[in-house]
Amino acid sequence: MNPVVEPLSWMLGTWLSDPPGAGTFPTLQPFQYLEEVYISHVGQPVLNFSFNAFHPDTHKPMHRECGFIRLKPDTNKVAFVSAQNTGIVEVEEGEVNGHELCITSHSVARMSFAKEPHVEQITRKFRLNSEGKLEQTVSMATTTQPMTQHLHVTYKKV
Ligand code: HEM
Repeated sequence: MNPVVEPLSWMLGTWLSDPPGAGTFPTLQPFQYLEEVYISHVGQPVLNFSFNAFHPDTHKPMHRECGFIRLKPDTNKVAFVSAQNTGIVEVEEGEVNGHELCITSHSVARMSFAKEPHVEQITRKFRLNSEGKLEQTVSMATTTQPMTQHLHVTYKKV
């Protein structure tokens, strides 16, 4: 592993939601989802990720995203670059502190025919909890709602 990404090594691996993820938002009925996560490296100072969500009953594919996580060498500053199947591409930046990564979008671009309401800002927190499970919390602000939690999910390593 490239030593630059060592501070994020706790994220590496194949992870599966356990229990199912919980989706919320003021405009939505609460929902559950399954998610497979692959976080890997190829020796570059970069991690590669893909998050693949599925319907908990039908296993029909739902939200998908993939991208890269970069660390600014000799700092705890992190950039998270993601392309999503919904036609959004975003760059989030933030900091890793121990087993916790907090990031906020600096830019969100979308295809011209993306469904409304549009996402204006996204924040995420990843942490490795005391049971060795990975957790992700995603909040977003849209053109109709202020920053509010959309997702919370705990993953076990598989
Ligand atoms: C709805 C954004 C990840 C499931 C939405 C909406 C937005 C959004 C803007 C519409 C909200 C509204 O109508 O007010 C995002 C972003 C994500 C993300 C930016 C990642 C950063 C996920 C994931 C799932 C998911 C991982 C898991 C399955 C849903 C569902 C709805 C929804 C079921 C309601 C139905 C629909 O509009 O398709 N999301 N989402 N989202 N999202 Fe997400």
